Amino acid sequence: MNNFEFINPTKIIFGKNTIAKLTEEIPANAKVLMLYGGGSIKKNGIYDQVKAALKTIDHIEFGGIPANPEYTVLMQALELIKNENITYLLAVGGGSVIDGTKFLSAAAYFKGETPWDILTEKIRTEQGMPFGTVLTLPATGSEMNSGAVITRASTQEKLAMGGPGLFPTFSILDPQVIQSIPKRQLANGITDAFSHVLEQYLTYPIGALLQDRFAESIMQTLIEVAPKILKDPKDYEAASNFMWSCTMALNGLIQKGVPTDWAVHAMGHELTALFGIDHARTLAIIAPSHYQYNFETKKEKLAQYAERVWQINSGSLEDKAYAAIEKTEQFFNSLGIDTKLSKYTKDYDGTAEIIAQRFTERGWLGLGERQALKPEDVESIVLMAY
Ligand code: NZQ
Ligand code: ZN
Repeated sequence: MNNFEFINPTKIIFGKNTIAKLTEEIPANAKVLMLYGGGSIKKNGIYDQVKAALKTIDHIEFGGIPANPEYTVLMQALELIKNENITYLLAVGGGSVIDGTKFLSAAAYFKGETPWDILTEKIRTEQGMPFGTVLTLPATGSEMNSGAVITRASTQEKLAMGGPGLFPTFSILDPQVIQSIPKRQLANGITDAFSHVLEQYLTYPIGALLQDRFAESIMQTLIEVAPKILKDPKDYEAASNFMWSCTMALNGLIQKGVPTDWAVHAMGHELTALFGIDHARTLAIIAPSHYQYNFETKKEKLAQYAERVWQINSGSLEDKAYAAIEKTEQFFNSLGIDTKLSKYTKDYDGTAEIIAQRFTERGWLGLGERQALKPEDVESIVLMAY
């Protein structure tokens, strides 16, 4: 096991009818900006619950943060934060609203010239404006981590940011919120969380027995609850296990002391930036090719994954490892998710070259758990995903 340090300061308030508890979490003298997305919260009752809880708290609102939070929209919210002397942010939404709020938390205290530099110059945020979240869509884990991904449509870029100052102070997780989520987004959530575990698990053995079993148990739980949630999002037991699995998949715990990959996400973000494909679907497109291409370096963990998560116990190590890749692709397909780029766009010609070129320009010369993947490998992997 590798050395590690671990801190996660986010307070989780989990369970039925917990949104009202946010009153107790926000400092009494705060001036709050409540942030939300395209309006789903106004149809499913979450907006009313949050407004009731904010009754005694000085607050204003900013709605309209789109999926894949857009820089120009966030800059309007930043102006409001400055003009209205906001001291506390409250995100009510999925990964996009929470990530947008993290950007604002960083930008509000940023001393540099243009906040976009936080992303291009990879400036870590040591201290941001405090914020809490009410999670409406289990998927990203953003509610309990300190990372964010921000999009800029004018340059077709989607870049990551983060830092120890960007953990939410609290996050409210009421599994009942999934009742109004469309099937397509539920499938995305399952796929995203599952992929988060794969990125932190499908590397090489390092003797981290507990971390491996944490990772395997999250995947087993997601596989078990996926059909139940898609059939009936009112199934509270399935919903609560789904929601907590998504949070646990990316709150830092399972990556401690182990190598991590994240190449699938790096390539996937480019597909969202270029074609607007949903985040989770980009991962399902890239993952099978990535694991096939890197078969030799990942086969031990692939075989362990085959045995423990998919109960594949016959054949050679290689047979099991191959079967695990197939099972993963079938799992995504069973959720209604296509795993080839050509199913999403007709304009895929040249995509592999463009992505490899972008990585070269950004100086990303070593992706993967051993930083061994060069832009030409990225090109081959994306080509395999057409
Ligand atoms: O905008 P509204 O109207 O609220 O509708 C949203 C949106 O259209 C809807 N929705 C959310 N909660 C709902 C609901 N509809 C009905 N009922 C509810 N309870 O769902 C749509 C998608 O929402 P979004 O927030 O975009 O989805 P998700 O949570 O999957 O977030 C995706 C974003 O997070 C980033 C992705 O790159 C992407 O930009 N990620 C963030 C990570 C992190 N911070 O750690 C890690 C991830 O790997 C990921 O990159
Ligand atoms: Zn993801």
